[in-house]
Amino acid sequence: MSEYILGIETSCDETAAAIVKDGTKIISNVVASQIESHRRFGGVVPEIASRHHVEQITMVLEETFQKAGLTAEDIDAIAVTEGPGLVGALLVGVNAAKGLAFAKQKPLVGVHHIAGHIYANRLEKEFAFPLLALVVSGGHTELIMMKKHGDFEIVGETRDDAAGEAYDKVARTLQLPYPGGPQIDKLAAEGRASIDFPRAWLEEGSLDFSFSGLKSAVINSLHNAKQKGETLAPEDVAASFQASVIDVLTAKTFQAAEKYQVKQVIVAGGVAANKGLRQVMTEKFQQVPTIDLMSPPLSLCTDNAAMIAAAGSVAFRQGHRADLDLNANPSLSLERYAGRSE
Ligand code: KG4
Ligand code: ZN
Repeated sequence: MSEYILGIETSCDETAAAIVKDGTKIISNVVASQIESHRRFGGVVPEIASRHHVEQITMVLEETFQKAGLTAEDIDAIAVTEGPGLVGALLVGVNAAKGLAFAKQKPLVGVHHIAGHIYANRLEKEFAFPLLALVVSGGHTELIMMKKHGDFEIVGETRDDAAGEAYDKVARTLQLPYPGGPQIDKLAAEGRASIDFPRAWLEEGSLDFSFSGLKSAVINSLHNAKQKGETLAPEDVAASFQASVIDVLTAKTFQAAEKYQVKQVIVAGGVAANKGLRQVMTEKFQQVPTIDLMSPPLSLCTDNAAMIAAAGSVAFRQGHRADLDLNANPSLSLERYAGRSE
């Protein structure tokens, strides 16, 4: 018999709901983005995000059921992002999920947002273990090993800024609108990587990342040029910054994939939508035909609820249930979340 999971995601600035069948097939997927409301502030304003989620969540849920041609009675379980994210934003999704679970007497499953980003890929293709995931988003830059479903081990992570955060900050310095990642991506394609920005390789063999030095180097170069009355071509700054980020992300992912002898490499999260990153990763992994490289389609790279339903399906089948006292956890650890299965 088919299993239908309703996913709900409100951890940042997208109010999203989706219904996924058997953990792998999208039946409906609705995302209400708030980007326009946050743009004039140059970033996400938490209070505004929470208020928008409250205004949107009921409509988004109704549309999700309507598009699927299903009702809440047809759902086997409700999966919701419990963390990490903005606490006020998470609470809206968690409370909507709890309300529906209580009213319809349906099982409730808490999902870690990063598990969701990884499971976005399972909506495209089945996983092959051992698997390595590079999760690059506005809040995360992590290399994660998975030996089986629902099992996550962080083998590398950023020591300061997330990759997406560096993109957004550099974009702001270049006076590009929020979110900066797609803007820099577009601009980079028109420029030359002619400026030699630093690459933080860290200690020999380290799979960790650091982007704050790069971000400062870009900002300093722009300021120095301005003081000298010169201007750096923004497209060259974008191309050079992007080249530095991609070099490090690709090299460390490749190093980890070889070290752990993985069968599959997944690149996920908002920054996985980056055209330059996708291209360089593809070229690099062509060297090793035994490793299957994949990324979600662009629409599933950034935040959505189909990925939460997909991850929720695995947790549900593994027997995880949340009680009605489920709370938002803004700093939920991925490994502690995974440890539930022990
Ligand atoms: O996964 P996501 O929607 O939210 C978080 O969980 O953080 O990722 C959003 C981040 C933003 O920092 C945005 O600038 C970045 O992903 N992003 C990109 C691209 N599209 C989105 N960064 C680089 N290139 C892109 N094409
Ligand atoms: Zn995300």
